[in-house]
Amino acid sequence: MRGILELPPELEVRIRAVDRVIEDALSSESKHLARPRDHILAARGKGLRPALVVLWAWARPGPGGRPDEARDRAATEVAAAAELIHMASLVHDDVIDGSTTRRGLETVNALFGARPSVLLGDFLFARAFGLLAQHRDFGVVELMTDAISAMCEGELEQAACAFSCDETEEGYLRRITLKTARLIAACCRAGAVIGGSSPEEAADAREYGLELGIAFQLTDDALDFVADERELGKPTCQDLVCGVLTLPVLRLLAHESLGPRARDLIESRRFDPESVLWVRSAVVECGGVDLTYERARQCLERAAACTSRLPAGPVRDALTAITRQVIARRR
Ligand code: IPE
Ligand code: MG
Ligand code: MG
Repeated sequence: MRGILELPPELEVRIRAVDRVIEDALSSESKHLARPRDHILAARGKGLRPALVVLWAWARPGPGGRPDEARDRAATEVAAAAELIHMASLVHDDVIDGSTTRRGLETVNALFGARPSVLLGDFLFARAFGLLAQHRDFGVVELMTDAISAMCEGELEQAACAFSCDETEEGYLRRITLKTARLIAACCRAGAVIGGSSPEEAADAREYGLELGIAFQLTDDALDFVADERELGKPTCQDLVCGVLTLPVLRLLAHESLGPRARDLIESRRFDPESVLWVRSAVVECGGVDLTYERARQCLERAAACTSRLPAGPVRDALTAITRQVIARRR
């Protein structure tokens, strides 16, 4: 993963190849597309999802039947498609959330406006499915369409319960599974399928991705309160201001003495800078951030256990290293 995980050179090369496929997939004659497209290419993220496709595809030795070149091509193209889907979802997400900064740069929404952003997101989805169509594996197409449907369901659920102080931890976990973990799980499973794994191994891959994805979002939600804004590359406390009540806040709301004030503030839907700062420190004080990291740790332990059936080697090591990186990340 870009900048946060060191991989053995042979895997690094395979993951780098995905970048070229992404750039090629976004070629267009339209001069109107060039600037927003170049902007998102310059603002690429860690590349977690494509790395997972590639790693799971190479998690086991040749399955017999599929030559290595075919596996390499399928893994690279599906990894690129997965990243394009993720990029599309973020371009749309920044319109929905009205966000002006991502990865330390202005969002497409801030630079070009909502209409170009919606269309650029659609363009990215279309090009992602163009890649999947070339690859002609309908099982993988289904994995990706299921993941996108789940993402939309999760986002709709999140919007429906904005500012709702009666949200439960269970409801929260359901929506982060839908909005984030399902795509990550689809990436792992797609990789395993491409690598010719058995049904049990493909189920392990999916489970690994679900647990990792939930932990990833839990960490994201903790970082929203405790990260350094510049390091994170996006403004902190954004979830709170938008009424997205994440686990750290749910813990605060349940707190005997701090909870009632938090509820009043959230239900008033008006956050002046002072009240945002109060919530931020109260969330830490009541143990909301610790609880969130603890839940993430539990998920990551389960994720790491899902690699136990894989042969020992650099890929398995990388998959377990990722579980440590997810919790240690600062951005
Ligand atoms: C990201 O959700 C979009 C999806 C997972 C579909 P968030 O709104 O929680 O993420 P950031 O904070 O903007 O990156
Ligand atoms: Mg957002
Ligand atoms: Mg959002």
